[in-house]
Amino acid sequence: MAIFITGATGFIGSYVVAELLREHQERLALLVRARSIEEAEKRLWMPLQLHLDFERFIDLMKSRVDVYLGDLTRPQLGLCPSDRARLIDSTESVIHLGAALNRRSDKVCFNVNLRGTLEVIKLARSAHEDHGLRRFSSVSTSAVCGERRCELIAEAQSVDWRLEDYDPYARTKKFGELMVSELLPDVSTIVFRPSTVMGDSRFAETIEFDMVRAFVVLAHLPVLPLDPKARHDIVPVDFVARSIATIHQREKPKYDIYHLSAGRDSLSYQEMIDAMRIKGFRIPHLFVPRLGRQASAIVNYLATTPKNWGVSLPATLLKMFWPYLIFDTVFDNQRVKEEMGESPTPFSEYAYRLLQFAVKHNFSYPYKPWPETTISKREDG
Ligand SMILES: NC(=O)c1ccc[n+]([C@@H]2O[C@H](COP(=O)([O-])OP(=O)(O)OC[C@H]3O[C@@H](n4cnc5c(N)ncnc54)[C@H](OP(=O)(O)O)[C@@H]3O)[C@@H](O)[C@H]2O)c1
Repeated sequence: MAIFITGATGFIGSYVVAELLREHQERLALLVRARSIEEAEKRLWMPLQLHLDFERFIDLMKSRVDVYLGDLTRPQLGLCPSDRARLIDSTESVIHLGAALNRRSDKVCFNVNLRGTLEVIKLARSAHEDHGLRRFSSVSTSAVCGERRCELIAEAQSVDWRLEDYDPYARTKKFGELMVSELLPDVSTIVFRPSTVMGDSRFAETIEFDMVRAFVVLAHLPVLPLDPKARHDIVPVDFVARSIATIHQREKPKYDIYHLSAGRDSLSYQEMIDAMRIKGFRIPHLFVPRLGRQASAIVNYLATTPKNWGVSLPATLLKMFWPYLIFDTVFDNQRVKEEMGESPTPFSEYAYRLLQFAVKHNFSYPYKPWPETTISKREDG
């Protein structure tokens, strides 16, 4: 039997896979978008090299991992009938992390986050009816809280269908949560809602740069169009992945929804800048919150400039994340702290080294290629 996982090639998914392989014993069945098993393994090696050396990776792929070639947006997850039957037969639980985080496209979010989630639920239902599913864990987002300002939100108060959503991503993730609870009423379900997941509290390296890039751009602006007292709920990926893996595996977790967040310990922008300054960051900052509207107009304009000007990508990311940067809303994390017996490391402790790593490597991880010798061995054999 195996834990069926979607989104294993992604930022959080690869951490969850690494955590399960390191700290738990179950087999893992991974849905990967690829044309062949070889291509799927190469895709998995990219994010997993942050956690494993190549020999260990190959060893685990053979001994603990089953790869399924598929796509969330295809009927029956794009699985061939024999793979689908084998997967249903062997699935003991599900962790659904696969998603489109594209905040601008209704179509992509609709297809991946709604149709894809429905397909994963259908597979889970078949497994449940066949032999009983131990658990279905769904990774959602704190953005399901909708447009609010200056609040501390507890899990039970997050979803209010009367509120506007930030974007198609938040809207489809919110409906995804509803599908899970409505269509799997007889299964143990857990919803995990991470806040902004950025960096690893243990080391500087990261493989995810979208939010980091927005953060670095802001950190280098001498005039910040933000309220210095506004907080941003940022949580490190190692805490998020450890919580998902541990709670998913726990026999009787106390709750069925968990915020994976910094909660009351979230830092304000002033506190973030002060913490980085203590570590050596030298750029002076002036907070001018009343410039927010003008800044938003400038960012919108810069996002439309030609790519070779070099500002459209950071501007597009800033535009996309703007509502998340100014909403000053944080997510109560008492439940996860109680369940895990630990708190996430504050962003102040690792923000500066994350910034330095991102700038030094020009916002990309220095991936090691798949060793040539192994490719030729495969081709030979
Ligand atoms: N990152 C954050 O700050 C954050 C915050 C809150 C919640 N979350 C939630 O955490 C989960 C993981 O997010 P992430 O940051 O790890 O995102 P990510 O790095 O973009 O990873 C997304 C994963 O979903 C897979 N996927 C997307 N479309 C697919 C499709 N059509 N078929 C199969 N797989 C598909 C991707 O596969 P490919 O590699 O093939 O594209 C990838 O493995 C999501 O559910 C997200 O909503 C993230």
